[in-house]
Amino acid sequence: MAEEKHDLRSKDWFQGDPKTSFIHRSWMKIEGIPDHEFNGKPVIGICNTWSELTPCNAHFRELAEMVKRGVYEAGGFPLEFPVMSLGEPIMRPTTMLFRNLVSMDVEESIRANPMDGVVLLAGCDKTTPATMMGALSCDLPTLVVSGGPMLNGKFRGEDIGSGTDVWRFSEDLRAGKMTEHEFAQAEACMSRSAGHCMTMGTASTMACMVEALGMTLSGGAAIPAADSRRKALAQVAGNRIVEMVAEDLRPSQILTREAFENSIMVNAAVGGSTNLVVHLLALAGRCGIDLTLEDFDKLGSHLPLLVNLMPSGKYLMEDFYYAGGLPVVIQELKHLLHMDALTINGRTHAENTEGTECFNRDVITSFDEPVQKEVGIAVLRGNLAEDGAIIKPSAATPELLTHKGRAVVFEDIEDLHARIDDPNLDVDESCVLVLKGAGPRGYPGMAEVGNMPMPQKMVEQGVRDMVRISDGRMSGTAYGTVVLHTSPEAAIGGALALVQNGDVIELDVPNRRIHLDVSDEELEKRRANWTPTPAPLTERGYAKMYVEHVQQAHLGVDFDFLVGKSGTKVTREAH
Ligand code: FES
Repeated sequence: MAEEKHDLRSKDWFQGDPKTSFIHRSWMKIEGIPDHEFNGKPVIGICNTWSELTPCNAHFRELAEMVKRGVYEAGGFPLEFPVMSLGEPIMRPTTMLFRNLVSMDVEESIRANPMDGVVLLAGCDKTTPATMMGALSCDLPTLVVSGGPMLNGKFRGEDIGSGTDVWRFSEDLRAGKMTEHEFAQAEACMSRSAGHCMTMGTASTMACMVEALGMTLSGGAAIPAADSRRKALAQVAGNRIVEMVAEDLRPSQILTREAFENSIMVNAAVGGSTNLVVHLLALAGRCGIDLTLEDFDKLGSHLPLLVNLMPSGKYLMEDFYYAGGLPVVIQELKHLLHMDALTINGRTHAENTEGTECFNRDVITSFDEPVQKEVGIAVLRGNLAEDGAIIKPSAATPELLTHKGRAVVFEDIEDLHARIDDPNLDVDESCVLVLKGAGPRGYPGMAEVGNMPMPQKMVEQGVRDMVRISDGRMSGTAYGTVVLHTSPEAAIGGALALVQNGDVIELDVPNRRIHLDVSDEELEKRRANWTPTPAPLTERGYAKMYVEHVQQAHLGVDFDFLVGKSGTKVTREAH
């Protein structure tokens, strides 16, 4: 067992004054824990986002057992604890509404309990940023074990990807290219093992983000959930967290500005989700790092796409793992990344990835022969998005990246659902679809509705992409020429709120411009007549707190009062 450099925080609970430590130890003994477990061993909290309502994390009990095995093996004392989980495909109105709530759950659970170190078990989209945000505000030694992606989907002899092929199949069904029977068959073929979405959607992006930030064991992001090597990784993580406690290695030593810059660059190279932007901004806010939207454009937008995975390419996470996974990407970017950045195993990215081999250049290309050039997230500005908006050019139709068209406006999501398939909708393929009320306050929760469906009329004409603009997000598995995260959002009077049917909108991605072709005088007139519509069901409870405190997309959608950290000091004893 590694020697502690400092006093264990948990000693305060288990070896403090006789009366209170009696209480703490005695009640723990309900669980059958013998005396020697309290004898100054590092207590490792295993923060588990397991839930049967979060199918992507449903294998986490087994994973937690492997972490425990590793903790015991290294001389620690593991205590697993549950936190609220966020099942992306099931929760309403959107998991993003609850990301900050989970972060509070995690933060307060860690601070209030006798933990010396924490392992975060996260997988489905929001569970990763949410648990990390909470843990970073405590800054105890922490590492992340992600749940791993599902095995490749297999349908009629072809690989199919979660999310990405749902969008494709549903468009095919609407266009009459797929039968209802085939559509139903594809369901089971898509989700055929434990794990999170196996495209480079948000969950895989988050797993890569964690590895690029140095917060998990090197090479861990891509291991499929069903692969026995993921269990081995969980056990090694259990070993490592005990050592981290001994070394007093905390996230604040790992999550430097350089680590965040690495994550932005890696995200561009893997074709990661646009959701990285809000999550990384929120994480940086908890760490006191001054990260801005501009950093994403400056550092990532000119980088090439090196990973040929859906939705930007053709392969899936299982293929990515067999090709060598993220260490290969890190090596390909070594002339750009901060390779001396520290990771949780106490070594740098350079040390962790040295000698890494790529086993399939069709899946992970070299830097000089990429899948695509210049693909990272682009940040747009203009009178329609004074605080910025984003687009993922690698998922867009290249010809639409410079486009001028007439706006077809939907005032909110109900309006969109009611009229998008109306045969009388006044729309043609050159139009720009505009959706209001999908932002942090407007929805509320900034739902993934930005990749709004093509109008039925357009589908019937074979149109598969149009320029779409909203203040919402889009699924990391989605694609299209979709401008997202428009800030300020419509619900607080951003210019998006003032767009009317027939206005001309210009999108100019090469020049990073999004412009509403309406005079300032006319916009002022419209603004004077504009009145906010409160988001539904936000009069009380958590939703009320959410709309009162959530920040805009360009700030990461965290609560204003959660930015920063409070450490792990507790005010008073309970007894
Ligand atoms: Fe859970 Fe995609 S729905 S990761």
